[in-house]
Amino acid sequence: MATQLTWFGHNAWSIETGGATILVDPFLDDSPTSPVKAANVKADFILLSHGHGDHLGDTVAIAKRTGATVLTNFEVGQWLGKKGVSGGKIIGMNPGGGIDQPFGRVKFTVAHHSSSMPDGSYGGVPGGFLITLGDTRIYFACDTALFLDMKLIGAGGLDLAVLPIGDLYTMGPDDSIDAVKLLNPKRVAPCHYNTWPLIAQDAAAWAERVRSHTAAEPVVLQPGDKINV
Ligand code: NI
Ligand code: MN
Repeated sequence: MATQLTWFGHNAWSIETGGATILVDPFLDDSPTSPVKAANVKADFILLSHGHGDHLGDTVAIAKRTGATVLTNFEVGQWLGKKGVSGGKIIGMNPGGGIDQPFGRVKFTVAHHSSSMPDGSYGGVPGGFLITLGDTRIYFACDTALFLDMKLIGAGGLDLAVLPIGDLYTMGPDDSIDAVKLLNPKRVAPCHYNTWPLIAQDAAAWAERVRSHTAAEPVVLQPGDKINV
């Protein structure tokens, strides 16, 4: 199945696959690096990893405008319902659980991080997403520390892993190299860096370390760039 990903900066992605558009963590209008605005993106599905504002972003507005189905954790799903997102369009998950959708399978994976909503409401536990599209498997670690169980996430083979490298709020470059070794993906793309000065990183230096210390091919994008998987 032909699948194309577009990076919108930070942890925001658009995935085009089998005629469906899937957004991941659509932080767009308030993002310093997003090349697109929320009013202009297509969405049939939205994968939302946790409640923090730099991931929740424009989810409510996009879901209301497009009628997209939102896959997120249970508590974030309940919060979205209170904000007017149609309850029938919310799929509340918890770590370890997966669900088949028309485009493929989505599993909500463990992430070591925190989660709260911008208004202070409880945001459940954060997660990442393991997406299976036919024979293609893509892992979005989302906001997380390094953890040894990444070995299990990669065990079935990964065509692409998307990892944060910004440090401070998530794993940084050093731990991301260990994450690549545990996940063993064919390719790895960095995200959650250079959005603000506090998470500035040298992606070219990171890519060189991936090449010399792991078996994966690094794919460094600029916001707006696309990858075919
Ligand atoms: Ni976060
Ligand atoms: Mn974040």
